Amino acid sequence: MSMPVNQYFKSERLLYRPLQMEDVHPYVKMCNEASRRRWFYFQEPHCLTEAFWIRGMENNIATWSRRVNVLKDDCGLAIVRKEDRALIGLVGISKFHGPEEELADVEIGYHIGEAYQGNGYGTEAAIAAVEWGLAELREFGAVPKIVGKAEHENKSSRRVLEKAGFTFVHEEPYLSVYERIGD
Ligand SMILES: CC(C)(COP(=O)(O)OP(=O)(O)OC[C@H]1O[C@@H](n2cnc3c(N)ncnc32)[C@H](O)[C@@H]1OP(=O)(O)O)[C@@H](O)C(=O)NCCC(=O)NCCS
Repeated sequence: MSMPVNQYFKSERLLYRPLQMEDVHPYVKMCNEASRRRWFYFQEPHCLTEAFWIRGMENNIATWSRRVNVLKDDCGLAIVRKEDRALIGLVGISKFHGPEEELADVEIGYHIGEAYQGNGYGTEAAIAAVEWGLAELREFGAVPKIVGKAEHENKSSRRVLEKAGFTFVHEEPYLSVYERIGD
């Protein structure tokens, strides 16, 4: 199968690519770090295992081996530092359609491993993903709008959204809701 047009994006210090099987161990380690578990407390223990992520990586590889559809697919990409090719996190734009849940909006999600936090990587990845996502939405003839949600107390995530040009919209019981609307 030939790869589609290069769909991946990049930014000044980072590049974004589909997950690979060799990402399993470092990524699952990052998923189990306290700074992520604090905000993903609702995840069942099996979501923090390598077996779970091997399936997730297979799905991610399959998704990116064809033309992705930002209105249907889970368009997550590994964040890799150009300088040393280190896997530092994950960023994605999705309007998830599952058997039990369907998101009302196209949403952004991100995670940077603890060893790499505080260097502006989360902000850089969010900006790159949003620019890519808005362009894709336009391409699909959809409203160029991306929603970001963070727990009220997740100050660094809220700050990432603000620095990526999102505007605060309203509060839900646990979450602050932001949106970024393209031109
Ligand atoms: C949120 C996250 C992606 C930020 O990644 P990062 O690479 O550290 O982000 P940046 O370096 O770009 O910093 C973002 C901003 O948050 C600020 N920040 C960091 N910790 C903070 C805190 N405890 N209180 C207030 N602001 C904080 C930084 O100072 C920076 O703002 P500034 O540039 O105005 O100083 C990362 O902390 C993470 O992955 N957390 C766990 C998973 C998570 O929460 N994901 C989001 C779910 S909604």
